[in-house]
Amino acid sequence: MKRKIKLGVFGFGCVGQGLYSVLHQTKGINAEIKKICIKHPDKARPIDASFFTTSRDEILNDPEIDVVVELIDEVDAAFEIVSSALRKRKAVVSANKKMIAENFPALLKLQQEFQTPFLYEASCCASIPVIRNLEEYYDNDLLTSVEGILNGSTNYILTHIFENNKAFDEALKDAQRLGYAESDPSLDVRALDPKYKLLIILVHAFGIILNPGDIFNYGIQNLKDADIRYAREKNARIKLIARCCKNGNKVYAYCMPRFVPVSDTLNKVTYEYNGLLLEGAFAEHQFFMGKGAGGNATGSAVLSDISALTYDYRYEYKKLNQNLNHTYTREIELEVYVSYNGAIQPAAADFESISVRHESPGFNYLVGRISLLKLMKAKWMDDPSVNLVLTENNI
Ligand code: HSE
Repeated sequence: MKRKIKLGVFGFGCVGQGLYSVLHQTKGINAEIKKICIKHPDKARPIDASFFTTSRDEILNDPEIDVVVELIDEVDAAFEIVSSALRKRKAVVSANKKMIAENFPALLKLQQEFQTPFLYEASCCASIPVIRNLEEYYDNDLLTSVEGILNGSTNYILTHIFENNKAFDEALKDAQRLGYAESDPSLDVRALDPKYKLLIILVHAFGIILNPGDIFNYGIQNLKDADIRYAREKNARIKLIARCCKNGNKVYAYCMPRFVPVSDTLNKVTYEYNGLLLEGAFAEHQFFMGKGAGGNATGSAVLSDISALTYDYRYEYKKLNQNLNHTYTREIELEVYVSYNGAIQPAAADFESISVRHESPGFNYLVGRISLLKLMKAKWMDDPSVNLVLTENNI
């Protein structure tokens, strides 16, 4: 696309406004917003009313609009908009990790059928360039592991709890006010949001397409003061970690909190920042850190995709096309800490071994080895009186 590209934007929330702001402060981008489709026309907005429409067709049927930017919350509506735009051969940029993770095969098919690019850098770790790096720099099968902090809101909450003794609910409210949290913050707190990001990363890192239900996620919803004290006593913090890793041709993945020693690189990732550790056969460890949530950080990733479209960039899905023959496994063993204080006890029979058992009034915990498959099936883990954290002894 050589001429100035015209954008039709869906949504003008935190990210939409971030995009508007970064686009207007960036001279080098040959793009302008023509229309913004919104749901509530009566809401006061900081820019001229002539930008807005409530009709999706005003954007989708406008032959002048080359690129549709989808920045809404609702998954089904977002999928419908993205599909319609691709069918009309309009390139699409989206930040909607849930929509992408839940509809990946259909979105891939649409891109192939209509030969139209669909870019979504902003869906993973906001300002950190993850997807294009995995596609272009790590375009071989030497990558062995991607892990890190993929959710800004929970990292913001955990940082405040550990560093400032702030209460969980207060920190969560701040994360919502600052535009880091999802409209439904349980997606952050229960580790669904980072799982959606991990699903997208798995495609570009290892060429594996999975459904959200395939991956174990456990959040920080059951975190207790006693767990925080335990971490402090061990000179560690708790971080919500998403990980995918290759061992031979087997790939495993999970998303759950982990004790991270204070001196660990991931402890440098604080507040709404995200951090990614990549490991390759020869490159060994590499570390990326950047703002993982917020209007401007996410808007800047959307802008980078728009810029990429000006030189006709599209994902080639190199790992998928390399037919790497990777298979997904849940047959790995993990060492976990489980605290419990109520009537519900972790079922000892689920564990391969238990190395520590501590019981005192109101605070019990065990440390043991358990298979990921058993964790996914364990009913006792759903009880709010139970809390699960990976120990430091997991490679
Ligand atoms: N709610 C998400 C987070 C926003 O906190 O990371 C960015 O994807």
